[in-house]
Amino acid sequence: MQRKRVAILISGRGSNMSALIEAAKAKNYPAEIALVLSNRPDAAGLEFAHAAGIQTRVIDHRDFGKDRVAFDAAVQAVLLQHRIDIVCLAGFMRLLTSSFVSAWQGRMLNIHPALLPAFKGLHTHQRALEAGAKIHGATVHFVAPEMDSGPIIAQGAVAVRADDSEESLAARVLGIEHRIYPLALKLVAEGRIRVENGRCLIDGVPVPDAAHLVPSA
Ligand code: GRF
Repeated sequence: MQRKRVAILISGRGSNMSALIEAAKAKNYPAEIALVLSNRPDAAGLEFAHAAGIQTRVIDHRDFGKDRVAFDAAVQAVLLQHRIDIVCLAGFMRLLTSSFVSAWQGRMLNIHPALLPAFKGLHTHQRALEAGAKIHGATVHFVAPEMDSGPIIAQGAVAVRADDSEESLAARVLGIEHRIYPLALKLVAEGRIRVENGRCLIDGVPVPDAAHLVPSA
């Protein structure tokens, strides 16, 4: 099978990006990481990607002022130039225009550090602790125009501990993120996900089977 060409969009640390790069090293992984693109020249993830021999590009959003359309057009041009099939947002801290999102419908994934639809937006771990949530986790979903929404592809959960701090909870959730993102990308790249009525079917089944569930860390 022809491996899908994936671009990962980052803004910072890039630990999810690194997890995807590591997963894609496996011979039978159905996707190759063809490009890492950052909107920040100082994103730490760029160095890791470069060291892994992956093409990197910086499109600095500050060069575009408030013009999101022009920024997205520049990103789109680079994605087309690299013949990208699938886009993975991994800590990419820019809102994308709805026309860009529409162009990638069903082919653009995001990872969010909470069990969506709970705790959309920022500071998810702190908010989960403040809410007294007993279960927290991470979600990989297809990107829809509205932020942190879109059909859910994979989720992984952790139990919240009584003595958890924001940092300790974030660290456990991050471990889950690094497991579910490669899994979700694999399923999408293999063409095993279909969206019906806003929900993902995996191999035609609405609820993922046991193989797709990530046990609590
Ligand atoms: C992750 O927690 C991800 O879920 C969120 O931003 C963070 C990015 O971390 N969208 P990293 O850059 O992948 O290390």
